[in-house]
Amino acid sequence: MSKFLLIDKKINRFNKSITVPADKSLSIRCILFASLANGKSKILNILESDDIKSTINCIRKFGIKIQKKNKYYEIFGKGLGGYEYKKGITINAGNSGTLARLILGCLVDSPYEVKLIGDQSLSQRDFSRVLEPLKKFGISFKSKRGLPLKIRGTKSPKSIKYYENKSSAQVKTCIMLAAIKAEGETEIIAKKSRNHSEILFKELNIPINVKNKNERDIIKVKKTKKFSSFNYKLPGDISSASFFIVLTLLSDKSKLLIKNVNINPTRTGIIKILNLMGAKIKFRNKRTLKGEAIANIEIKSTKNFKKISLPMRFNSSAIDEFLLIFLVAAKADGVSFFKGLSELNKKESPRLKWASKILNYMGVKNITTYDSIKIYGNPEFKLNRSIIIKNFLKDHRIFMMSTIAALTMGGKWKIYDKNSIRTSFPNFLKIIKFINSEKHE
Ligand code: S3P
Repeated sequence: MSKFLLIDKKINRFNKSITVPADKSLSIRCILFASLANGKSKILNILESDDIKSTINCIRKFGIKIQKKNKYYEIFGKGLGGYEYKKGITINAGNSGTLARLILGCLVDSPYEVKLIGDQSLSQRDFSRVLEPLKKFGISFKSKRGLPLKIRGTKSPKSIKYYENKSSAQVKTCIMLAAIKAEGETEIIAKKSRNHSEILFKELNIPINVKNKNERDIIKVKKTKKFSSFNYKLPGDISSASFFIVLTLLSDKSKLLIKNVNINPTRTGIIKILNLMGAKIKFRNKRTLKGEAIANIEIKSTKNFKKISLPMRFNSSAIDEFLLIFLVAAKADGVSFFKGLSELNKKESPRLKWASKILNYMGVKNITTYDSIKIYGNPEFKLNRSIIIKNFLKDHRIFMMSTIAALTMGGKWKIYDKNSIRTSFPNFLKIIKFINSEKHE
């Protein structure tokens, strides 16, 4: 397989129905939670990508059996104290920030030092955000900046009170996972972020209390003795669906139905934002499964996008989708403004910087600071340049966003790091091919 993708033609008109792979956040959470449950959990439709392979490999290091049986993954949890620790264990989280941060919460009671490593991108990400609260629980660690780091748990973790200020679901979940093993009641005063972990706690009858006060979530978690294994059927990932949502909006006279997607309101910021900008994206056949909202998403090409000055309260619910939203802003009528986005530069690569870079390559005027971006949109925008995208940190979302830009804006694109899609969305290009073909499901 060549390492780059060449695109010099816009996508053909289409009217298709697709599904996208399972939600990454939920897939990682299901495996980790099942590894701490008592008994055999059965997970259907797990995302099969590199981040999930890394999760499975990490859990196996602690003596947890996982096997694929027909369409299911079976995970044989041994309870909250069930991890087998040996001296000198090294776990490799690959490219996954979610796995790396969440698993550290599971290791709050490890009797030995565990070494955590990752790829080049993960190694330079911020771990102080989870080490700081974990230290309050009683863990000790050795870390310079990023990875590798070493962490040793404590025999008797003590509950904590923590102000979570980054709107980070990874930090919140790391603390919640440590809290179930900590004596007493842990309180997290958290800025809003995706709430899959809170929903899972409730579904699994792990005692949790969530209240909303002054735009914050006050989450209380008590020490738990055990919880039971479970069956789970995973819905599609809205972050993966978003590439095709924007592909359809920016294409000519096209229509798309994306079936069976998780539409948890803490994840649907992109839909709310694009609809405010003039799209008419609709949810059909809404239902609830294990506390998570699911629907089919219906999208039609849209001609006239309005500029937006986005209130910051939308940020956390669209955190992984901003690159795509910026693309729509480039086609909007007027200047759009997005602020409070410093977290974007702390992802798999500095994404706000990259957004600005790609817009510059395209010839779209933008003024970008460390946490904001002003985009000068033009509904008549047409591209006839050659663009090369080489993202040395191999950020999957940069690759996929560039592909969508190439297929909708025109120009000649050479996009490197094709293999990066293996992180979250291995069949991304197959779905593009299907949408661009005469075939139907
Ligand atoms: C995630 C939380 C978000 C998101 C990431 C997945 C999760 O990160 O960007 O892709 O599953 O908890 P932060 O917690 O750093 O905001």
